[in-house]
Amino acid sequence: MDTITLLKPDDFHLHLRDGGEMASIVGDSARRFARAVVMPNLVPPVVSVQQALGYRQRILACLPHNPGFDPLMTLYLTDDSSREEVDRVAESDKVCAFKYYPAGATTHSASGVTAIKKVMPLLEYMAHRDVPLLVHGEVTDADVDVFDREKAFIERVLAPLAEELGSLRIVFEHITTSDAVQFVTGESEKIAATITPHHLILNRNAMLSGGINPHHYCLPVLKRERHRQALVTAAVSGNPKFFLGSDSAPHPARSKEKPPCCAGIYNACVAIESYAAVFDAMNSLDTLEKFASRNGARFYGLPLNTQTITLRREQWRVPNMLTFADTMLVPFRAGETCQWKLLREQ
Ligand code: DOR
Ligand code: ZN
Repeated sequence: MDTITLLKPDDFHLHLRDGGEMASIVGDSARRFARAVVMPNLVPPVVSVQQALGYRQRILACLPHNPGFDPLMTLYLTDDSSREEVDRVAESDKVCAFKYYPAGATTHSASGVTAIKKVMPLLEYMAHRDVPLLVHGEVTDADVDVFDREKAFIERVLAPLAEELGSLRIVFEHITTSDAVQFVTGESEKIAATITPHHLILNRNAMLSGGINPHHYCLPVLKRERHRQALVTAAVSGNPKFFLGSDSAPHPARSKEKPPCCAGIYNACVAIESYAAVFDAMNSLDTLEKFASRNGARFYGLPLNTQTITLRREQWRVPNMLTFADTMLVPFRAGETCQWKLLREQ
């Protein structure tokens, strides 16, 4: 198979930043994806529907030549989020979910939830209104090793939450371990997961072996090879619980290359091409459309896209650097040869 045509994919987990930074990158996503679930971890965070709609307008204003791109907004859950805001999300067709960041877990998470019990009544209300919860699944406890934080989150937070609130729709974002694959697979259809291209392609050696590579540092951190393999198996399986969420998260090169290195990998410029390479290597191009264009829409109750994209087996080189507002960033797979090329949208 030397070309693949897919229903235009959706990116169910994307960081677009704001202002000049956003203007320099959002086109990469809009070319490849029809819709994107946009993360709310701006500074200050997006905590109200009103703020989210303003942010959405700023996104669309960056895309005058791509009016088809539909940003699906999210609100940042805090200890103080209100029922009224849950109502507003439930009634909006432009804001689709709340994002749960454990306070201190990752980039711009200082305003996140300090303890799950503080938001339990609100989560019950979200379940009642059928508003999905998107979860950054890592504990922040200093006594838990950074490589074990996702597993500990499943045991300490997510499994008890799923047990107690079985009707809450949860997306376990950017899963990185076989433990997460196993957990999601064993739960009801209310629980799904996104998987990033970098966690499908890299294991932790890419970050730590032969010299530390800050451009491979993201959160949750890359894990060992057996975990990467479990993610690939889940992604290509066709199981409707697993779908595409790139977690593309740009940072200036200078913020990655000087300590403390920011967490995040910018992959939007090579996202669907990278997923295609993973599926191709597994002889599974036939399930790529499920993962990229169908499963997520189904989970979120969205119509399937009608546009398509076509990828061709053709080598091209990923740029070493890209412009990012008034500075530069280093993208995922910088300088590498990519085997699949985005041809056109229809
Ligand atoms: O690596 C990451 N970068 N993980 C996150 O959870 C946040 C993201 C960002 O916003 O940079
Ligand atoms: Zn993210």
